Amino acid sequence: MECVVQGIIETQHVEALEILLQGLCGVERKSLKVHELCLKSGPNLGSEASEVRLLCDLEQPEPAWTVRHVGGSMRGAGADQISVLVRNMVESKISKNVLKLFYLLGYKLDHEHLRVGFAFHFQRRGAQITVTVSSVSKMLKLHATEDTVPVTPGIQMVEVTAPASAENYSEVAAAVSAFCEYLAPLLHLSKPGNATGVVPTAAAAAASLMSYGGTS
Ligand SMILES: *[C@@H]1O[C@H](CO)[C@@H](O)[C@H](O)[C@H]1NC(C)=O
Ligand SMILES: *[C@@H]1O[C@H](CO)[C@@H](O)[C@H](O)[C@H]1NC(C)=O
Repeated sequence: MECVVQGIIETQHVEALEILLQGLCGVERKSLKVHELCLKSGPNLGSEASEVRLLCDLEQPEPAWTVRHVGGSMRGAGADQISVLVRNMVESKISKNVLKLFYLLGYKLDHEHLRVGFAFHFQRRGAQITVTVSSVSKMLKLHATEDTVPVTPGIQMVEVTAPASAENYSEVAAAVSAFCEYLAPLLHLSKPGNATGVVPTAAAAAASLMSYGGTS
């Protein structure tokens, strides 16, 4: 399982967010460049509709592929009370020929994206938190990662995730929520599918972070 929240930020405030994250996490950022292929199948006779994502990490010397399946999210009163989404997720390293295999299995390419930005990986209260900040582009031609246009110009996606289990998800969710509080002046993070837009305090918070960063 994983805990996840998402938000958006204007590109002009991303540098301030990076300074804030750097200060909070105490680790170096990692560059992020990922080619994402979303595949869908069915519903066919005897099989339910299914969606998988193939992710190709283009930052590695040799492109490294991962397959990711996001399953159902936790429901019920307990799930409603926490401000992060807890969902099933399976991720596995795969060989690069796997796209053909998924086509043979009846999957079709639904859409593909290029995600470029940076990530921070760190520990908080025992939780292994990953924060990614990225701009998402679509490809003008099939698989042409060097020929893209932004999906939401001027806006970047922020995602905070942490692995969890049925035993520890409430602690992990609490650690993620507590961390998100620090980012609140710059962006609002909420459960995926509940986009809340940019926050009105972002410009002022960014300005103060930038001047602090410049004089320290
Ligand atoms: C919760 O469980 C997951 C999966 O076993 C593990 O990766 C993570 O480190 C655990 N987190 C905490 C805070 O115990
Ligand atoms: C989305 O956010 C609003 C405002 O924070 C909240 O009232 C609503 O319940 C949320 N919806 C979901 C599906 O989480």
